[in-house]
Amino acid sequence: MQDYHEFLSEVLITEDELQKRIAELGAEISHDYEGKELLLVCILRGGVMFLSDLVRNITVPHMMDFMSVSSYGIGARRSRGQSRINLDINTDVNNRSVLLVEDIVDSGYTVKAVLELLSARQPKSLKVCALLNKASRREVDVKIDYCGFVIPDKFVFGYGLDADEYYRNLPFIGVMAADKYKPGD
Ligand code: IMP
Ligand code: MG
Repeated sequence: MQDYHEFLSEVLITEDELQKRIAELGAEISHDYEGKELLLVCILRGGVMFLSDLVRNITVPHMMDFMSVSSYGIGARRSRGQSRINLDINTDVNNRSVLLVEDIVDSGYTVKAVLELLSARQPKSLKVCALLNKASRREVDVKIDYCGFVIPDKFVFGYGLDADEYYRNLPFIGVMAADKYKPGD
């Protein structure tokens, strides 16, 4: 596997900046859902780092469940406008306050597909919390209720986000220099 230093063009969001903003989001969510219970639905795999730090900043009682959706194939850099549900949640969402936790909203197709699926099951409420928002790339309209950072149209990796499934463990968000990256190395 290629050393990420070879293709990291810049650190876009540092570990400190991520943790500070996630603490703010957790406080805001805890305030908004005071007296209620939450079901956090995390989209695998990119959302796991964010979820695990976010829940440590949420003070209202909550459950977690996981869903896996694929929109990109290995090596592909854009969503094809189609999302496939690979793994569904087990929890009954009917009459629950549901908060979808996602790493990044890019074209918007993934979140839109998951929202349609979950809303058909009649939750009490359904909101979206996304760490990153590549707003300039949006192809379908999705409302992001809690947003960590709006970022430019650059391919990013780290903190849950992968480059061909690697580098999710990095504690920061980095920008990839595509010309220096060698897939499959
Ligand atoms: P969308 O369906 O186009 O909104 O794509 C959302 C999914 O694409 C996210 O859940 C990510 O898995 C992936 N994605 C989009 N942009 C990036 C990126 O810059 N780095 C890594 N993954 C990305
Ligand atoms: Mg993802």
